[in-house]
Formats: sequence, structure tokens, C-alpha cells
Amino acid sequence: MLLQMQTWAEVERYLATSNAVIVPIGSTEQHGPNGLIGTDALCGEYFAKGAGELAGAMVAPTINVGMAQHHMAFTGSMTLKPTTLILVIKEWVASLAHHGFEKFFFVNGHGGNIATINAAFQELYADESLAKGGNRPGVLCRLRNWWDGPKVNALIKELFADQDGSHATCSEVSVTQHLFPDAIKQAPDMGPPSPHRGPWANADDYRRKFPDGRIGAHSYLANPQAGKRIYDCGIAEIAEDYRKFVAEPR
Ligand code: NI
Repeated sequence: MLLQMQTWAEVERYLATSNAVIVPIGSTEQHGPNGLIGTDALCGEYFAKGAGELAGAMVAPTINVGMAQHHMAFTGSMTLKPTTLILVIKEWVASLAHHGFEKFFFVNGHGGNIATINAAFQELYADESLAKGGNRPGVLCRLRNWWDGPKVNALIKELFADQDGSHATCSEVSVTQHLFPDAIKQAPDMGPPSPHRGPWANADDYRRKFPDGRIGAHSYLANPQAGKRIYDCGIAEIAEDYRKFVAEPR
């Protein structure tokens, strides 16, 4: 159930039955020789949509540009600074909280967003804690990276062992190949990834260490069949975690 596809009266009726919402968040950044620039935004959005359908949850619009400063030496990448992304997350939540949503389940597609999402949650809680008469339940926010579930983790290990990597992963490229078969890119000559694993600092430093953008990923192994298995397994696990989150007492 996508918020954008409802009328205001339908959202009002949903709020009479649930105060929880799923918020997809991702990033628009290079994903190596055969990964789409939208990989993380698309994964965040489609894992959220699929889980939302299984759980009967409302799904908010996607925050599709994230904290990706380290990818800016690759053409087409976009970033928000951490301070900007914190404000975006806070105002996404504040807009929906204004109408009565209280529980926010973020489905994230980008590891580089994690620190900033957690900082934004603490900013939201701090505003409430410091408000006059703040001793009352406020919003409750939860971060769920799409790859975090034990079942999806085991499946990725089974499919790609230690070749999945940590950026432009075989698994995320496979998921987008399953979701968008018309946009599958061929890059047969990419070879093995750079031996570096991290850490990195700014965008130039990242590009020097990871010249084609990948971190530890043998992304040429990606395939849409694997993507379908990962997607189906992932949405079931995310929906289960969402239901537990909704049932948590306040
Ligand atoms: Ni990614």
C-alpha cells in the first residue's frame, strides 16, 4: 500500500487501524561496472514495497538520495551531507507524525546511511526529551537494512560465498537484475575486485583504493535468478520483523 497511491480519506482509514508506516531509504551512487546507479534506492524501495504488501503496511515515499560523499569521484553519483540527510529524515517523520503515525520502520538499502539514520533517530528523540512536558510517548523509529535477516544472509552465503563483497555486491546487483531485467548491464571484463577493503576517507581516496567502484565484490556473478531468490526471502523476513515491531508495546 503506497502512500502516494491513496486518497487522504484512505490514509485516514488506515490510521484508524494502524499507526505504523514503512519508510524506504537508499542512495543514488555508482555501483561498479555493471550495477545501476540507483541500486540502493531501488533495493530500499522494492524491499519496502514487497514487505509492505505481505504485511498490509503503508509505505511512504522513498528517500532516494543518501549519504554517499565517498562515491562522488564517479560520474552520476549524488549525495546529501549527513547534516542535510538528518534534516530530511526528521521532516519525513515529522510530516507523517503530524497526521498520527507513531511507528516508523525504515527499510534501508545503503550501508553508508546507517550512522546518519541512527543520528537522525537520536535527534528526533532528543527533541522530544527536551520539549516542555516531554514525558509522554513520542515516535518510535527502527532501522532495518534489507540484507540483515539471518535467512537472507545464509542464502547470500550459499549463492556467492565470500565473493559477494561489500559494495556493488553480487546480491544487490542480482536483485536489481531480477526487478529490472531490461536494464541488465554487461561488463564481462571487469576481473577481480581491488585488494583493498577499507577504510577510506573522501571521494578521491575511495577512487584511488577502488578504481572501478567495487569493494570486494565479484559483481560479474550477479544473475536475475539469484536476485529473485534473495528478493523473495528478504521481503518475507522484513515483513516478519515489521510485524514484530508493530506488536512491540509502547
Ligand atoms: Ni549498494
